[in-house]
Amino acid sequence: MAKSSSAELIAAAPQFQRALLDWYRTHARRLPWRDAPSLYQTVVSEFMLQQTQVNTMLPYYTRWLASLPDFAALAAAPEAQVLKLWEGLGYYSRARNLHRLAIEYVARPHPPRTPDEWRELPGVGPYTAAAITSISFAAPAACVDGNVVRILARLTANATEFRDSAMASKIFTPLATALLPSVNPGDHNQAMMELGATVCYRQKPLCLVCPGRPFCAAARRGTPVEFPRLVSKFYELQSVTRVWCERTGALLLHRAAAGAKRFANLHELPTAEQAGLAAGLVRSGRLLAKKRRSITRFQITESIHVVPAPRVTRKKLGTGLRWVPFAELDTITLSGPHRRWVNELLAGR
Ligand code: ADE
Repeated sequence: MAKSSSAELIAAAPQFQRALLDWYRTHARRLPWRDAPSLYQTVVSEFMLQQTQVNTMLPYYTRWLASLPDFAALAAAPEAQVLKLWEGLGYYSRARNLHRLAIEYVARPHPPRTPDEWRELPGVGPYTAAAITSISFAAPAACVDGNVVRILARLTANATEFRDSAMASKIFTPLATALLPSVNPGDHNQAMMELGATVCYRQKPLCLVCPGRPFCAAARRGTPVEFPRLVSKFYELQSVTRVWCERTGALLLHRAAAGAKRFANLHELPTAEQAGLAAGLVRSGRLLAKKRRSITRFQITESIHVVPAPRVTRKKLGTGLRWVPFAELDTITLSGPHRRWVNELLAGR
């Protein structure tokens, strides 16, 4: 069934491309990197859009372009400035990779042009390489992310049960490639992204206004939300005990080591262990807040307890611990959730 739907769709590729592009030209959101984009704007927007939605990243994008307008400015910027501009977007390895990418880019005698060349640069996977090169160099590379998988699975009513989104992307890449036009492949890719983001919703897709409706096997059956079928994600639960410790106008924070796998150089409220205290002792202090965050496959509950300064200062401060004056909190880089929590806890005092 899936195979014949794919074959039918590929046979109708020119009509599908036309309908999609007409829709995109009239209905796409006007986004700053779509009006006469430079390669740099395309690269920055694609990095920010990895794991972040357009509405969330827009203010960051504008601020970033104003401070670091081109590859040379980014390459020359100190990492602390790069991280500060990224603060709140999360997944900071993207910012570090983008910084390293700019440094490598300016050092190259010729700018990379093909998806394979781009994939040699830090932080550029198949999706980002396809997006950058199709938009900037009209490379015939199809972008396949969760949005595109959803559209293609519905168009073809493909009932395969996918282990994860990486497997689904791999399976749909040949179909996405077969549907890609040779003229303006970047517009086609962005139209697919736009359709996924604004019409072909995971729940309650807007089939009545969808340009893909005449081609869509799932819409014909009236069951679009049944596709794609993904095995439900397994979360591992964890709990962490954190310390809220103040001393004469300063807050105790922990900065992760520069070489740390996650959160390198970012500040967070210290865990009991980082503060050199037994978790049981910290938990006997007043509970200020209980917060949830997800990191990859972990769902973490963080309990933040008040600990008096003498408990911490009895010994020498542990590695990475710093007293940061309240007045300087805005100048350092906190992880996204900890920035929110610290602001909220300070506002509630
Ligand atoms: N997601 C990833 N790249 C995008 C783009 N260029 N436009 C909209 N959403 C996107």
